[in-house]
Amino acid sequence: QNGGLKSTKSRNILEKMEETGKNAVIFYGSQTGTAEDYASRLAKEGASRFGLKTMVADLEDYDYDNLDSFPSDKVVFFVLATYGEGEPTDNAVDFYEFINGEDVSFAGGTSMEEKPLSNLKYVGFGLGNNTYEHYNLMIRNVAKALVKMGATQIGEAGEGDDGAGTMEEDFLAWKEPMWQALAESMGLEEREAVYEPAFEITQRDDMDPEEDLVYLGEPNKNHLEGNQRGPYNANNPYIAPIAESKEIFTTQSRNCLHMEIDVSGSNISYTTGDHIAVWPTNPGKEVDRFIKAIGLESKRHSVISVKGKDPTAKVPFPSPSTYDAVIRYHMEICAPISRQFVSQLAPFAPNEDIKAEMTKLGADKDYFHQNVADWKLNIAQLLEQQSKGEPWTKIPFSLFIEGLHKIQPRYYSISSSSLVQKNKISITAVVESVEKPGAPHIVKGVTTNYLLALKQKQHGEPNPDPHGLNYALNGPRNKYDGIHVPVHVRHSNFKLPSDPSKPIIMVGPGSGVAPFRGFVQERAAQAAAGENVGKTMLFFGCRRREEDFLYASEWEEYKKDLGDNFDLRVAFSREGPNKVYVQHKMKEAAAEINKLLDQKAYFYVCGDAANMAREVNTILGQIIAEQRGLPESKGEEIVKAMRSSNQYQEDVWS
Ligand code: 2AM
Repeated sequence: QNGGLKSTKSRNILEKMEETGKNAVIFYGSQTGTAEDYASRLAKEGASRFGLKTMVADLEDYDYDNLDSFPSDKVVFFVLATYGEGEPTDNAVDFYEFINGEDVSFAGGTSMEEKPLSNLKYVGFGLGNNTYEHYNLMIRNVAKALVKMGATQIGEAGEGDDGAGTMEEDFLAWKEPMWQALAESMGLEEREAVYEPAFEITQRDDMDPEEDLVYLGEPNKNHLEGNQRGPYNANNPYIAPIAESKEIFTTQSRNCLHMEIDVSGSNISYTTGDHIAVWPTNPGKEVDRFIKAIGLESKRHSVISVKGKDPTAKVPFPSPSTYDAVIRYHMEICAPISRQFVSQLAPFAPNEDIKAEMTKLGADKDYFHQNVADWKLNIAQLLEQQSKGEPWTKIPFSLFIEGLHKIQPRYYSISSSSLVQKNKISITAVVESVEKPGAPHIVKGVTTNYLLALKQKQHGEPNPDPHGLNYALNGPRNKYDGIHVPVHVRHSNFKLPSDPSKPIIMVGPGSGVAPFRGFVQERAAQAAAGENVGKTMLFFGCRRREEDFLYASEWEEYKKDLGDNFDLRVAFSREGPNKVYVQHKMKEAAAEINKLLDQKAYFYVCGDAANMAREVNTILGQIIAEQRGLPESKGEEIVKAMRSSNQYQEDVWS
């Protein structure tokens, strides 16, 4: 699964804990890295404050059928994200199926009636999003299953809400009482926490980054040796040539990119509706800011080896590398800094005044929000602001490895049809920069701006960020010529009906139209090939016809093949005195929508989860109720049933 890059190791968690002298394991189920990050933070805090012997573990790396022999002097943590429509994260699928299965059986052979987990103590925290229907389903169902089998839950099972934007505060508020309950249950004494670096960093003056095998952004050994090979996945990207890149609209504050990624020869396959992951690089300007803020300029290109002090601590990037490469390619330095991390940095402030201010920011939630979180300051922006430019040379580099997230690939809905362009994957991305009045910095989307920089480079345009590009382009070894981007594909369940004669209804305002460009492209090709293609209805929304109407002329081309079966309805939100949204256009087409649903049309929504997707769901229920003369609650029920049977599909993000 990971391209043979990991060595074979024991999947027995108890054995591993015995071997390494641990009494607490923190399992994580993580998709984008947040759950993994919380797991590391809990491990660290448990060790430093309560003397727990902690280890962090990927659920995917272990078996769970011996949970029944867990002794009561040990504890298991589950930090589990709920993904999409109440699904487990990829790395938690097997665990979830096991623990939630009809007939769970443990190695010890105890029957269910005998409560096989009666010695097991566990702590639970869930990461969810209340804008989705199945809020925190993972932690809720896992907790239910564990308790049913006799396990003892320590403290409350916490729930963090990404939808309300309170994940971090939910986590902080949950963990204090949890630690107290755990300390009591295990007889632990709290002590003054002293920072112990988890990683050892050795300067390798014997190595030359230009001549020796030093990682300068390469994600793994095959890449380092100039020999990338599949399978390509979340551990191993394909460095793909960009066949084409252009801006399909450009305004002062927003632009939309269209890119064609060439995957021929890579063995990467996709089907229409899948996602492509882009592995970003930090912008050079922010890398420079960070390096300057911590006073690392003279050493930025020194070669370093990084090793966990504890054998279970995973270094989140390959080594040997350089400070510059680690920061540029592996650390999420542009993300808003967390309040807890500010507290951890305080003891290393350049002077007592700054230390006092950092301590206050870390302790006072409102003060932190007013001065840091509301402006979305990243770490270097905060350090710079607090010290007025004096470098923070006392912070151990290990603390950054522990406290900053590792850069994650970002997923985009593929905007092409695999039937039409099997080896060329299209991306449609709106480049974000948000300027908040009064804010000291403009917040820029890391990955969209990285893609924009690649496009500018490809076209020889002046690049506002000359050193923000990835190693494939400007690394000292420059192994890849031309313009490339590291990618992999993730398969989704957002799929066209296998029978093209079935009608479909699609709702995708803004860049939510991306997968539907693929859907329509596919149906047009099928029609051109003489197949019987059903009604293809698309609701699109944008600000103005002349400003951001995506693929305006392409739709005309598809119309030539699909004829009247292609029905495009566009809501221009800012052309008239009142906002017009896709929901309004749906209402206008109520009778038609209802008729198509009667013919078992598939219904698809893509785009903003927080508002648009919810409202579309509600409107559809109302349309069904009205058209069929039913009470509104019945309409809602019908939509719910459509969701369960996959007739209603969503590809949404927040
Ligand atoms: P607005 O920005 O003018 O409010 C793509 O972003 C389009 O979606 C824009 O026309 C935008 O309109 C619109 N939009 C914003 N909020 C929406 C919502 N809740 N439902 C549907 N469309 C929305």
